[in-house]
Amino acid sequence: MTDAPDALPTGDESSEQVVTPWDVEGKDGEGIDYDKLVRDFGCSTIDEKMIERIERVTGVRAHPFLRRGMFFAHRELDVILDAYERGEKFYLYTGRGPSSESLHLGHLIPFHFTKWLQDAFKVPLVIQLTDDEKFLWKDLTLEECGRLARENAKDIIACGFDPKRTFIFSDVQYMSTPLYQNMMKIAKCVTLNQVRGIFGFTGESNIGQVGFPPTQAAPSFPDCFPHMFGESKTSLRCLIPCAIDQDPYFRMTRDVAPRIGGYKPALIESRFFPALKGESGKMSASDATSAIYVTDTPKEIKSKVNKYAFSGGQLTVEDHRRLGGDLNTDISWKWLNFFLDDDEELAKIGEEYSSGRMLSGEIKAKLIETLIPICQGHQESREMVTEETIDAFMSTQPRVFASLFGDMGDVVGALDESVASNAKPGVAIGAPEPEGPMKKQQDKAQTGEDGGQMSKSQMKKLLKEQQIAEKKRAKAEAKAAAAAAAAAAAAN
Ligand code: TYM
Repeated sequence: MTDAPDALPTGDESSEQVVTPWDVEGKDGEGIDYDKLVRDFGCSTIDEKMIERIERVTGVRAHPFLRRGMFFAHRELDVILDAYERGEKFYLYTGRGPSSESLHLGHLIPFHFTKWLQDAFKVPLVIQLTDDEKFLWKDLTLEECGRLARENAKDIIACGFDPKRTFIFSDVQYMSTPLYQNMMKIAKCVTLNQVRGIFGFTGESNIGQVGFPPTQAAPSFPDCFPHMFGESKTSLRCLIPCAIDQDPYFRMTRDVAPRIGGYKPALIESRFFPALKGESGKMSASDATSAIYVTDTPKEIKSKVNKYAFSGGQLTVEDHRRLGGDLNTDISWKWLNFFLDDDEELAKIGEEYSSGRMLSGEIKAKLIETLIPICQGHQESREMVTEETIDAFMSTQPRVFASLFGDMGDVVGALDESVASNAKPGVAIGAPEPEGPMKKQQDKAQTGEDGGQMSKSQMKKLLKEQQIAEKKRAKAEAKAAAAAAAAAAAAN
């Protein structure tokens, strides 16, 4: 498959459809033309065969977002599946730009789907909170963006991620690590002309914005997270779930990857969860009439749906009974497709509404009835997320590499096994070692502070320290896991 690193994300010049990480607008106020987006971006669509293959390799029924075509596009997902079948490892990477106090329903789409991917493939996950991005693009202070990052982390944790396999980081806090080294390597490979082409930057863009893309690109390489994955750039592949607005970042990343010695990250991309007022854009956190927030009360949900949800119903009841509702434009129908789990009930509603037997007010009532328990469950889960839980998810204590994959092996066993080969401060225990020139660097680094080779007793001491740290972390994780389990139980 070929990427189109220099293609304009907005398509050819004659089109008014705009899809960038910051703006989403259909042509002439109409819905997004996803076929055109796939053509312009150069990604591929997900077909039935691929969904069946995912079910076969994971042994799990596909998530409704996959079965119903919400996650509809990909880049090299087949390569990830081939590698997974050969027993090779991969990790998931996704993120959030913390610009509002809480997430809206559209943001839940990638996070709920990522949770499903994590459980189905039993793999680790890193979540980037781009507080720096939001500072550069919005009228917010850097401190406020940092606060919002922690607030948003609560919503993200409330989605039920496995604390043992998940690392959440804010750019501003996690910058003085190998993340920065990777950013610099990527930045050196990309010219101003290229980012102009990919992101539409102009002479008016501030230089922080122009320089930002490597920050979102870098977490696609596992050596950004030595405490999770060790120091090798090729120890595991990366799969990124997101909506298709984020594609330009990763088109750029895939172009650069071979030049800095990494794998191209794979992507699995969703359509947009539409705004309440209609299909032409994505739901925006800054427009309360276009969004339902996960923190909204039942009363707010009811009033927003009844007042703003664009209806595909006819103007009079008589016309509606005769002509039926238009499923192509009706927002209640579209949202039910995202959030109503029961396939049979969904099909029945579609049939009743399009035939005119169900009225617009009735399909809205069905939507309200579906959304209220989702938001209430989320709020209850969020309540249980403490400051300590967030700290556990954001901890950079080295983890035991083997315990991040599959059915949680015997962590103590993994510790013992990896001890001799991999006892280095800040580095995941038992992680694969870098090869080639990187190996030399690591050998150099594995010497004591005075530059000499570490003695056996130094190694032992270090190991002991790591074991204590691991125990502490496991304790914090167990606490976080208990909170997440209780949260998940409350959500169900
Ligand atoms: P942000 O905060 O705009 O969005 C977070 C995630 O939600 C997706 N999304 C939507 N999905 C469906 N329907 C919608 N209406 C909708 N609105 C937003 C986004 O595609 C994204 O997956 N720069 C990023 C943060 C980021 C990131 C990443 C995202 C950093 N690294 C890696 C994805 C993957 C941002 O501001 O996302």
